[in-house]
Amino acid sequence: MNIEVLLTEAEIAEEFAESIAARDLPEKFFYWTPQSVKAWEALAARSEECLKGTWESLAARAADLTKPFGKRVPVISFGAGDGLKDRTLLRSLAGAGREVKYFPVDASQQLLETACAGAEDDDIEALGIKADISSPMHVVLAADVSEAPRLFLMVGNTLGGFDPMDQIRHVADCVKKGDILIVDTNLHPGVPVTPTEEQRRFVFAPLAAAGVLTDDGELDFTERPDDRLDGMFMLTRRFIASRDLRLLVAGHEISVARGERILLNFRYLFTAEAFRWLLTGHAGLRIVGEIPSADGKIMTAVCIKA
Ligand SMILES: C[S@@+](CC[C@H](N)C(=O)[O-])C[C@H]1O[C@@H](n2cnc3c(N)ncnc32)[C@H](O)[C@@H]1O
Repeated sequence: MNIEVLLTEAEIAEEFAESIAARDLPEKFFYWTPQSVKAWEALAARSEECLKGTWESLAARAADLTKPFGKRVPVISFGAGDGLKDRTLLRSLAGAGREVKYFPVDASQQLLETACAGAEDDDIEALGIKADISSPMHVVLAADVSEAPRLFLMVGNTLGGFDPMDQIRHVADCVKKGDILIVDTNLHPGVPVTPTEEQRRFVFAPLAAAGVLTDDGELDFTERPDDRLDGMFMLTRRFIASRDLRLLVAGHEISVARGERILLNFRYLFTAEAFRWLLTGHAGLRIVGEIPSADGKIMTAVCIKA
């Protein structure tokens, strides 16, 4: 298995301790430990069924979409996770006789290994890239792993885990003439979102890795519109300590006083109109295809450079 490392485990561990000390945990730590991966898999399983049709439809169109690429199709997946969705496309392209090379990009070593191993099981050449996609430099380095034309993926609501206004620009900057980007979002349901037990377990998992117990505090989920764009909503999650805590994180002892808050990862949700504007008006892409999920809760867009 080949994995190129731009972000080391030592750097992640150090940043994890710094983030707990700063009371602000970025998205990548929610997929870092085996416990987090397990919690995420349970959460992701819920949306897999609704997205089955979307991915079958994309797989059926994949060979045609990438016809101008010629024989070779590099697939670069930002925040690839376990690569389960990506594999539907990879298999379809390989089945159509194309030379597919898969580049899953992720900060999670465990998920990256799973994505690479899955592709290799299907006899598809894979090179994993362990990188931090919140860094514009890492996004460029990962994209440059192959020359255009390339098929970029950023799916599973990966975009919603970052500031989407910044992140989509960093990704769109890498999309050159001839490239294709497939990106999706969870649509805002129009009423406040109630967290499920799986979501609560998922957001708590990094705290548990730092030694926090469920009765050490409360989880608070809040949703608010983001004033920068009509139809863009931010779902924030916080932990509020209900007693004084002493945590041991990567060798650092960190005290959290009763009543203190730790910001957990957030999620952005959009209306369909706001998501279209983000991709086109804001990021300078052109949408050439849109696929709604079976339950209408997720929108997947196929984009090219405008
Ligand atoms: C919501 S999951 C989606 C996974 C996959 N694309 C899917 O559709 O199932 C987000 C993925 O992005 C990765 N991720 C989160 N923050 C990251 C960061 N800063 N750099 C690289 N990967 C990151 C996570 O490890 C996780 O695999």
